[in-house]
Amino acid sequence: MPNPSSPTSELTTLELTLNGQRRAALGVRPHTTLLNWLRDQGLTGCKEGCAEGECGACAVLVARPTEDGGARLESVNACLVLMGTLAGQEVVTAEGLGQPGTLHPVQHELAVRGGSQCGYCTPGFVMSMAAEYYRPERLAGDPHHGPNGFDIHALSGNLCRCTGYRPIQDAAYALGTPPESDPLAQRRRHTPPAPQPTFLSTPDGDFVRPGSLTEALEVLAAHPEAKLLAGGTDWGVEVNLRHARAGVTMAVDGLPELRGLTVNDDSIELGAGLNLSELERRLGNQIPLLREWFPHFASRLIRNSATLGGNLGTASPIGDSPPVLLALDAAVVLTGPAGEREVALPEYFTGYRQTVRRPGELIRAVRIPLPLAPITGFYKVAKRRFDDISSVAVGMALELEGGAVKRIRIGLGGVAATPIRGLTAEAALTGQVWNEKNVRLAAKLLGTEGTPLDDHRASRAYRAAMLEQTLLKFFFEQTPQRQEVRG
Ligand SMILES: Cc1cc2nc3c(=O)[nH]c(=O)nc-3n(C[C@H](O)[C@H](O)[C@H](O)COP(=O)(O)OP(=O)(O)OC[C@H]3O[C@@H](n4cnc5c(N)ncnc54)[C@H](O)[C@@H]3O)c2cc1C
Ligand code: FES
Ligand code: FES
Repeated sequence: MPNPSSPTSELTTLELTLNGQRRAALGVRPHTTLLNWLRDQGLTGCKEGCAEGECGACAVLVARPTEDGGARLESVNACLVLMGTLAGQEVVTAEGLGQPGTLHPVQHELAVRGGSQCGYCTPGFVMSMAAEYYRPERLAGDPHHGPNGFDIHALSGNLCRCTGYRPIQDAAYALGTPPESDPLAQRRRHTPPAPQPTFLSTPDGDFVRPGSLTEALEVLAAHPEAKLLAGGTDWGVEVNLRHARAGVTMAVDGLPELRGLTVNDDSIELGAGLNLSELERRLGNQIPLLREWFPHFASRLIRNSATLGGNLGTASPIGDSPPVLLALDAAVVLTGPAGEREVALPEYFTGYRQTVRRPGELIRAVRIPLPLAPITGFYKVAKRRFDDISSVAVGMALELEGGAVKRIRIGLGGVAATPIRGLTAEAALTGQVWNEKNVRLAAKLLGTEGTPLDDHRASRAYRAAMLEQTLLKFFFEQTPQRQEVRG
């Protein structure tokens, strides 16, 4: 692989498949987004609403491999996808679904049911709905969702300002099964190509997608300042809204070593480069706390890209994975020139957006010890139920013995400069009978953990009060006989 920043001629071209046609993308920069590139090609169905993953007007489909050798068409926010990550990949836009006169079933249903007024959001809705239309689990008769197996939460990352959501939902629930002749249904039978190793060298910086962890560590050794890129749902926002630029950007989400999911006798290891939708599917109910947590994280569009490595990479005090991972007693597996080391999550965070990760290291995986605590819960307090940033987030994992607390771990986000454990409340409960009186005392202590901020999202007092409430809620949810007494 060429060494980034070594003297070389400009390399700004990559190839991808767009709406079934092989295309050369010319003049690509490390910060060129798929949204901007598509619009430059005249494919203006892809719209910019917010450029930060919030509105879904830019949604498109990307073909990704399924575990059984087919393709899954997943919706992503084109405003957050950097072109360098797409070499060799397949993208479908609204123009690739249907045309006036020969509308795709999703476009047809939206049109006839009045699901579009100004139409600005419509192509984005069409793409999120199309991903759901072709979702293998829906077609296999997913019993968990709507009348036709349609998961309406697949649209939670799409905003509409003028139509109102009812006709859009009607259109979604009217969708049938793709006919045999449907080109995208046929397309789903073949594995899409794996992401290609990529190297772009441009006047604005270099973009590298190494093929292996060894190569990635070599690049990092030469360029410890390189910006690691996984799903881009944080970095893409920085690029678009804050005009952040990196001399060297290195994509790590495709590294096979970061894409494992291994269940051992004493731990489960989750690859840092797996996106959250993939993790959710592949884990099933193996970690019930994560299963409960996934739907609270952003939207389907974001979860189709966002990774655990990226969430821990930002080290944000309001990231939603640390509270659950702290409750699960997880460790971060860092790998670098000196080999691999495991860091317990509480020791990983050292300050506001600071971690023990050394230059030249990256997060390879997250390791969760087994056996898991049998009673768990996740509580996210935010202004909206879905697709919102936490004011506080709390993960709990409890083990009882003879009615008393043998062990409890409480992970907290949004109450300090780093995610923390609720150690005072944990200590107060350990060894005590798991009853309302003791839980109320511990909840008071939980309300004093950390140093919550007063900001536009929530006041300090509100955050403290919410901490107390989450422990009480956990108690009443996990203690059915108490619910009856209260009822
Ligand atoms: C609309 C929207 C909604 C969101 N909602 C939520 C939410 O509900 N909860 C929440 O917690 N977050 C949320 N986020 C933030 C973001 O989606 C998450 O932080 C996500 O996990 C980032 O993962 P990524 O793979 O996209 O990271 P990227 O943007 O690719 O990277 C983020 C950072 O991590 C670093 N990094 C990436 N991979 C590694 C690695 N393997 N090793 C070391 N460093 C690495 C990068 O260099 C970068 O600094 C939201 C973002 C958007 C745009
Ligand atoms: S433009 Fe709003 S999500 Fe991409
Ligand atoms: S139809 Fe106007 S924003 Fe949705």
